[in-house]
Amino acid sequence: MALRDITALPAWESLRAQHADLTGRHLRELFAADPGRAERMSLTAGDLYLDYSKHWVTAETVECLVRLAEEAGLRKRIDAMFNGDRVNLTEDRPALHVALRLPAGAELVVDGQDVVGDVHAVLRRMGDFTGRVRTKQWRGATGEPVATVVNIGIGGSDLGPAMAYEALRDYADAGIDVQFVSNVDPADLRNALAGLDPAATLFVISSKSFDTLETVANATAARKWLTNALGEAAVSRHFVAASTNVAKAERFGIDPANVFGIWSWAGGRLSFCGSVGLSLMTAIGAERFHELLNGFHTIDEHFRTAPFRQNMPVLMGLLGIWYTNFFDAQTRAILPYSRRLHRLPAYLQQLMMESNGKSVRGDGTPVRLNTGEVFWGEPGTNGQHAFFQLLHQGTRTIPADFIGFAEPYADLGNMHDLLFANMLAQVWTLAFGKSAEENSEEGVPAALVPHKVVPGNRPLSVILAPRLTPSTLGQLVALYEHVMFVQGALWDIDSFDQWGVELGKEKALDLLPALTSEASHAGHVDEVVRALVGVYRLLRG
Ligand code: F6P
Repeated sequence: MALRDITALPAWESLRAQHADLTGRHLRELFAADPGRAERMSLTAGDLYLDYSKHWVTAETVECLVRLAEEAGLRKRIDAMFNGDRVNLTEDRPALHVALRLPAGAELVVDGQDVVGDVHAVLRRMGDFTGRVRTKQWRGATGEPVATVVNIGIGGSDLGPAMAYEALRDYADAGIDVQFVSNVDPADLRNALAGLDPAATLFVISSKSFDTLETVANATAARKWLTNALGEAAVSRHFVAASTNVAKAERFGIDPANVFGIWSWAGGRLSFCGSVGLSLMTAIGAERFHELLNGFHTIDEHFRTAPFRQNMPVLMGLLGIWYTNFFDAQTRAILPYSRRLHRLPAYLQQLMMESNGKSVRGDGTPVRLNTGEVFWGEPGTNGQHAFFQLLHQGTRTIPADFIGFAEPYADLGNMHDLLFANMLAQVWTLAFGKSAEENSEEGVPAALVPHKVVPGNRPLSVILAPRLTPSTLGQLVALYEHVMFVQGALWDIDSFDQWGVELGKEKALDLLPALTSEASHAGHVDEVVRALVGVYRLLRG
């Protein structure tokens, strides 16, 4: 279902007028002209609170943005995704990640198949397996219980569980450590295995395809490490998999009973609510994992049903389009004020950039707008002492998302209040800044004034939640998943394929022989890489 070109919609014209009207107006002015703006420009979804008052918008701008979504037919597109329509056009399949967190009693039949029943059957198997590992009923080949789980996977088969494990470390109550190995750089696996006892190590091979170069290479090396210590017969007690490819997993030596399925309709970057979350479930337990799923589902329902004006993912997605397409903003800073969320920016990078880094529309014609926000970031307060200077006084427009929590999991004195005060201080300073007059009034020497002016007027969102729990983490991730969907739908691109990445994968396999074999591989090596191959071979010796 192709959407109408958004630039041809009446709302787009109104937004052009809004853009002209707002250009050059400072957030200080918008606040002064609109008492109660902060209260009005906020909304809640589940446990999440969004303050969007520090954006370059008036109530009228928001109305125009919402109208844009309506005129573009976003509602139909949302319904299509939730119904299991084939919204992933180029791969001709649904994008049904929302089905991974539907409650057990729900109904969704796709191509004659009860999706919810299938999802919960796998969740039950995962619960049973991880329960046995956590209670030490599952033992390794020599009878040792599992002390460390090593998740081997890459992209969506790594970033989701790795980010969530870091976020929910405080809930990891079974005394099982989880390591994540993704990079084909052997340093990754070596770091993870250093000091581990093979007899007490369980590998989870997380790969939808069981075919990804990095994952297969790491899994093969890990297998060797294990069999060197414990022998071939140990493989099935120390390797399990999350994969659609049961046959390949079995050839590797994994018992099919310990292969946990995924479905083609769950994209890699949207899959950790399913079996890709196995290592996470081992750490936090099935009950907590279900709380995470319920958190996702809460926001799914909000996204599916809330009117656009009160719809958090819709508004955030529209604001991203506002800055990208009207103000030529190139990037968005993700600034969680939570050390536990230190992998969130990396996770969101894949989610947003692999999904929306596209330049043709669903029908193959070029997109005439910039697509795909570049996400980046670091937790506060560390970022403040690294890159915030550019946010404060640099020349670029960089919208930012601040993410904060009211309650810490555990506090040390007033450290959590200090953290939150820092977040508020940054929000205030980025929005309002410090003018030349204010500097002069404070007696700053005239020559220094220009250097000490902090312009403010930096657009930003603040997202608050009571506390970082499995549920609020799920809510937060679902929020961004749907932001991605909204933007992809309005740009009319396929957010669920990644052909650029696929080409790189093929090319790596094509070039490998030129690096390792004696024969010349003129067919593979052309002008672009010939010199580099030569230097590499020379240096490698
Ligand atoms: O990076 C491309 C990609 O296909 C991701 O979408 C996916 O998460 C990752 O590779 C890993 O794929 P697999 O789970 O099949 O190993």
